[in-house]
Amino acid sequence: MIIDTNLTIFGGTGDLTFRKLLPALYTMDLTGKLPGNSRIVIIGRRDFDNDSYRQAAREWVEKNSRLPFQAESYGHFSEKIYYYRMNFSELGEYEALDRYYRQNEIRSHLFYFAVAPRFFSVITKGLKMVGGSEEGKVILEKPFGENLASATVLNKELEAHFGAERIYRIDHYLGKEMVRNIQAIRFANPIFTDVWNSRYIESVQISALEDMGVETRGGYYDASGALKDMVQNHLLQILSIMAMEEPKEMTPKGLHDAQLDVFDSLRQADEESIQDMLVLGQYEGYQKEPLVNPRSQTETFAALQLFIDNKRWKGTPFYIRTGKKTGTREIELSVIFRRPYSGVEPNVLIIKIQPTEGVYLQFNIKRPGDTDDIIPTKMDFCQNCNLVHQLNTPEAYERLITACMEGERSWFSQWDQIERCWNYISRLKELYSHKALPVYPYTPGTPGPGESDRLLEKHGHHWLNQG
Ligand code: BG6
Repeated sequence: MIIDTNLTIFGGTGDLTFRKLLPALYTMDLTGKLPGNSRIVIIGRRDFDNDSYRQAAREWVEKNSRLPFQAESYGHFSEKIYYYRMNFSELGEYEALDRYYRQNEIRSHLFYFAVAPRFFSVITKGLKMVGGSEEGKVILEKPFGENLASATVLNKELEAHFGAERIYRIDHYLGKEMVRNIQAIRFANPIFTDVWNSRYIESVQISALEDMGVETRGGYYDASGALKDMVQNHLLQILSIMAMEEPKEMTPKGLHDAQLDVFDSLRQADEESIQDMLVLGQYEGYQKEPLVNPRSQTETFAALQLFIDNKRWKGTPFYIRTGKKTGTREIELSVIFRRPYSGVEPNVLIIKIQPTEGVYLQFNIKRPGDTDDIIPTKMDFCQNCNLVHQLNTPEAYERLITACMEGERSWFSQWDQIERCWNYISRLKELYSHKALPVYPYTPGTPGPGESDRLLEKHGHHWLNQG
């Protein structure tokens, strides 16, 4: 039997595969999105065989699958999973992988690099020994590279083997339902479209708080930190979609060009401005986490103030904050409008991305009764409170793996965007350490160090309460 959709996952025994990829693939199988004749080859070093791996994966799928778990369906799905034991850092082992593919008549490849970026290069070198791999597609997990220099080298190497059009750089935030919804909310509603600029919008906040710490990922995280782990990719992507001009054409290129213009207009930090642009923090106890350097100064929290120096956004501050162990799990994009006159509350539009998916709008009314007082009230639309919507909304990884299989590139990050974001973030980091600004400690369960308020107070703003 010729296998026509073969997905090989490098890093098949890692957290991402168990927690996100296999549950997504299971749901794709359940909903008919995984072509019948598919095979999933799991590559790992650990001592599994097909049966023991399928068994180990079962509890993760059961725990993390979006749709209710069904033992029978899992049985059907798991027959597509094959475990292939190898050390993917050993170039000598790829000839055998090539033989394995040929013996199993595997012709069409989709490779998923679910590994740390330092392994991308060796896997690409190894795949040169696998016949037909250059005609396959490759999905790369973020972060892409460890800094701009390593990302550039890596990009050249990958493009030389696969060609630019077959590389899919995944940013799973671009697969989230409400991130996809930002465009619709902006451009399908004149009540927002026409006021989406600095004349009417006073400030914007993008907040991505997590209650968990680094858990088992201390090794990766300690070399990365919140800026590289969350801001450089996920949160700058959200910012660019929030702030871009309406794409001239609804094509992947139209969207990417509009986003790129935002990155090109980001005001660069300098020695003077850095302390008003960035505050870093670390939760107490982080240095005792497994695989973390006991003297680590890696940030687990970052708050930024950014300006987009173009006509639309001149003078409107954008605030971003993200952190681990902040006592809440919430991702929101908040747009705070200018007050029509003093003494009233601003209109606030909040696009709730996670865990609630919805839209919240605060506006002013007259207090009911015999008074002319103006008071704020709200409309709060929860999209995923509706079970049907919940069941019909694919999880980010399902959506993006399906898009890659179908060759739809719109919602993947492009190299030029990544390059701009690396540049921006690296400069911030360098200036911050050059000026010896502190990484402030914060108590787990609190929303980061109090110093992050400083970034907003200068403009008379404050972080919106979550909830
Ligand atoms: C990942 C980061 O990209 O996103 C993690 O590496 C973070 O550190 C995760 O926890 C958050 O994703 P989500 O989908 O749970 O918001």
